[in-house]
Amino acid sequence: MSIRPRAMLDLTGALDFRTDRFQLRPLSVEDSPVLFRHLSDPAVTEFMDIDPLQGEDEALAIIGWAMGIRERNAGLRWGIRDRDGEFLGTAGFNTIELERGRRGEVAYDIRKASWGQGVMGEVLPALAVFGFQGLGLRRLEAMVTVGNEPSCRLLERHGFEREGVLRDHGFWKGGFWDQVVYGRLAT
Ligand SMILES: CC(C)(COP(=O)(O)OP(=O)(O)OC[C@H]1O[C@@H](n2cnc3c(N)ncnc32)[C@H](O)[C@@H]1OP(=O)(O)O)[C@@H](O)C(=O)NCCC(=O)NCCS
Repeated sequence: MSIRPRAMLDLTGALDFRTDRFQLRPLSVEDSPVLFRHLSDPAVTEFMDIDPLQGEDEALAIIGWAMGIRERNAGLRWGIRDRDGEFLGTAGFNTIELERGRRGEVAYDIRKASWGQGVMGEVLPALAVFGFQGLGLRRLEAMVTVGNEPSCRLLERHGFEREGVLRDHGFWKGGFWDQVVYGRLAT
C-alpha cells in the first residue's frame, strides 16, 4: 500500500485503498443495508457507544455522521470489504485534529464471523501509515471501553501504549462507562 503525503488535509478526494487482503472505501449511502446488518449484532456493539441498530435509518444516520466529519476534514470512516466485495466492518478516524494538535482517534468494528482472522491486524497498520505519513499526525489514540480485552490486545500488539483510565468517561445504554486511553506516537 502506498499513500502519498499530503501538504494540506483534504479528505474529500478519492480515498479508496487496498491492503493485501482487503479493500477500503469511505462509507457512503450504498453501504446502509450491510452496515445495518453488521451493527444490529449485539456481540459487535457490546462495547460500543451504540445500541444494536433497529433499522436501516439508523445505519443511514451513522453514514451521515461519517460523511459529515469527512466533509469537515475532521474524521474519516472506511467500509472494509474482502476481495469478493463481502462487507466485513468499518475502521477509520473518529476525529482528526490538526489545528491544536496533530492527532487522530482510531476506531473500528469487525463483523463477528470475521473476528480472529487478522482483519484489524492488517487494517490497523494501514490506518497508522495513513495517519502518520498521509496526514502527518504526531499521535494516534484510541478509547476502549473497560472490558473490551480483544481491542486492548489489538492496540498493544500494534505499538499503542495504555496511558490511563478515564473514569465514567462515556454515557450510553443508560450508564456511565470507564474508558482506557491508548496512544501511539509517530516516533
Ligand atoms: C476488537 C476487534 C476489532 C478485533 O478485530 P479482529 O479483526 O478480530 O482482530 P485480529 O483478528 O487482528 O486479532 C484478534 C485475535 O485473533 C488473532 N489472530 C489474528 N490473525 C489470526 C489468524 N490468522 N488465525 C488465528 N488467530 C488470529 C489475534 O492474535 C488476536 O488474538 P487475541 O485477541 O487473543 O490477542 C473485533 O473483535 C471487533 O470488531 N469487536 C467488536 C467491535 C469493537 O469492540 N470495536 C472496538 C471498539 S474500541
